[in-house]
Amino acid sequence: MSRMPVLAFCGSLRSDSLNRALLDLAERLAPDLQFVGADLIPDLPLFNPGLDLTDELPASVRHFRGLARAAKAVVIASPEYVHAPSGITKNALDWLDGYGALDGKPTLLLSASPGSTGGIQGLVALFPTLQALGAVLIDPVSVSRAGSRLDSHGNVMDPAVYQRVELAMDDLREAMDFAYGHPLAARGM
Ligand SMILES: Cc1cc2nc3c(=O)[nH]c(=O)nc-3n(C[C@H](O)[C@H](O)[C@H](O)COP(=O)(O)O)c2cc1C
Repeated sequence: MSRMPVLAFCGSLRSDSLNRALLDLAERLAPDLQFVGADLIPDLPLFNPGLDLTDELPASVRHFRGLARAAKAVVIASPEYVHAPSGITKNALDWLDGYGALDGKPTLLLSASPGSTGGIQGLVALFPTLQALGAVLIDPVSVSRAGSRLDSHGNVMDPAVYQRVELAMDDLREAMDFAYGHPLAARGM
């Protein structure tokens, strides 16, 4: 049985990104799902709707939109910068506006921050954008004091982080079952 594609990307370009570590953990906890799209994020240009009217639309944008349309769910791990979402995340979402690419799709937001709020303000500020794009938000996970709880090599020092991401992935699967009427867990996918 083929794995259901999930648009999954990180809003940090940092090589030691804690948010990417969180996204990687979500992927490891979902061998039944196929995470796609993350490698295109660095190649997306700054949003310019004028490019849609020309022949110069970059292949990365076309490919990203195609993956988003085909995906059955969305997972985004996004840092908070200056009490706002990462511009990288917002830029990627702006390229999806107007294509119905996220319409009705269960969407999990993750964030990690060395601070005590875990980047939750950045996630909350993404809610209106994602709702405008038609995404169906499920309970997000934000990890505070993230530097002592996980590292960029994939080590998870705090079992609670593992459990919270595991629960969130269960929620995502349940929302996918509800949206598509296929109980993934029961089918052993
Ligand atoms: C310019 C700048 C602004 C930041 N602003 C915030 C902030 O408002 N809230 C917060 O929780 N962390 C903030 N941070 C810390 C980031 O959450 C932290 O660097 C995080 O590790 C970035 O994500 P990454 O590890 O995935 O690259 C800021 C970091 C930088 C460099």
